[in-house]
Amino acid sequence: MMMNKTKPHVLHLLLVLSCTWVLTVSATSDAYPSVSDCGVVDEVVVPERREVYGEGKIFDISHRYREDMPSFQSDDGLGQFLWLRMSMKNGSLANVSELKFSTHSGTHVDSPAHMFDHYYDAGFDVDSLDLEVLNGPALLVDVPRDKNITAEVMKSLNIPKGIRRVLFRTLNTDRQLMWKKKFATDYVGFTKDGAEWLVENTDIKLVGIDYLNVAAYFDTIPAHHAFLEAREIIIVEAVKLDHYIQAGIYSLHCLPLRLPTSDGSPARCILIK
Ligand SMILES: *[C@@H]1O[C@H](CO)[C@@H](O)[C@H](O)[C@H]1NC(C)=O
Ligand SMILES: *[C@@H]1O[C@H](CO)[C@@H](O)[C@H](O)[C@H]1NC(C)=O
Ligand SMILES: *[C@@H]1O[C@H](CO)[C@@H](O)[C@H](O)[C@H]1NC(C)=O
Repeated sequence: MMMNKTKPHVLHLLLVLSCTWVLTVSATSDAYPSVSDCGVVDEVVVPERREVYGEGKIFDISHRYREDMPSFQSDDGLGQFLWLRMSMKNGSLANVSELKFSTHSGTHVDSPAHMFDHYYDAGFDVDSLDLEVLNGPALLVDVPRDKNITAEVMKSLNIPKGIRRVLFRTLNTDRQLMWKKKFATDYVGFTKDGAEWLVENTDIKLVGIDYLNVAAYFDTIPAHHAFLEAREIIIVEAVKLDHYIQAGIYSLHCLPLRLPTSDGSPARCILIK
C-alpha cells in the first residue's frame, strides 16, 4: 500500500524440482540470473513499479488502476476493467487487451460537458481542454484537516494572486480513501461557497483534489457548476498526493486522452521538482 523507496526488482523464484536446495541457491548470482544444473531458470526478472523517479525529481501523482480502487457511489470498487481479447496462450500472435471503465475512474479530468448539457451539445469535451492550463507551475497545499473546503478555508490559505494551478491535499490522503474499495461519501471536497470564493477571488484555473470528486458530496452539483460554468477551470480528480511529496511549487504535467464528446478522461499527471 505505502510505497517503499527501494524495492527489490528481482524476484527470487527458487524452483526446487529434482534439484537440491543448496544446488539452486549456489547457482544464483544477483548480476546474472542463472540456470541451475537441472535446467530450471531460478530467477525471474519482474518490472520495477515506481512512484518517484530521478531520486525525487519526478513524482507520479496518478493512481495505478486497480480492480479494488473506489468508484463513484459504488460499494464494490472499479471491478474488472481489463481483459485479454487475444492471448498467446490461445494461439494468437500477440497478447491484446481491451479496456472498459467510466471516464471518471481513477486520476481523471472533468470537462465542462460533465455538468452542463448545453456545453455537452456544443462540444466542450475533454479534447477541447487547454493543454496550457493542464501543464505549468502548480502549488501543492495542505488544507486544514477538520473542515471541507469552504470560503473561509479558501481565504485562510492565502493563495497568492498569479497562482494558476493548485493541488489540494486533504484529510482524504490521510485516510487513504483511494485505497478503500467502498466509495466514501464523507470525503473532503469543496462546498458551494468554497468553489465560488475560488472563482471570484483567485487566478486558479486548475483545481486538483485527492479523491474522486472535487466537491463535497452534498454539494456535488453546485460546486461543479461554480467551477465549470465559465469554462475556464479544469478539474483534476483523484490525484495521488502522498505525504512524501512536500507542499510547495512544482511543474505540473497532466495529459488526458483525446476523447471527443467525452465529459471526462483518465489522465497521467506528474509533478517535476
Ligand atoms: C481462450 O480460448 C478459450 C476457448 O476458446 C476462450 O474461452 C477464452 O476466452 C480465450 N481466452 C482469451 C484470453 O482469449
Ligand atoms: C502473453 O505473451 C507472452 C509472450 O510475450 C506469453 O508468454 C504469455 O503466455 C501471454 N499471456 C497470455 C495470458 O496469453
Ligand atoms: C465534509 O463534508 C461531508 C459531507 O459532504 C461530511 O460528511 C464530512 O464530515 C465533512 N468533512 C469534514 C472534515 O468536515
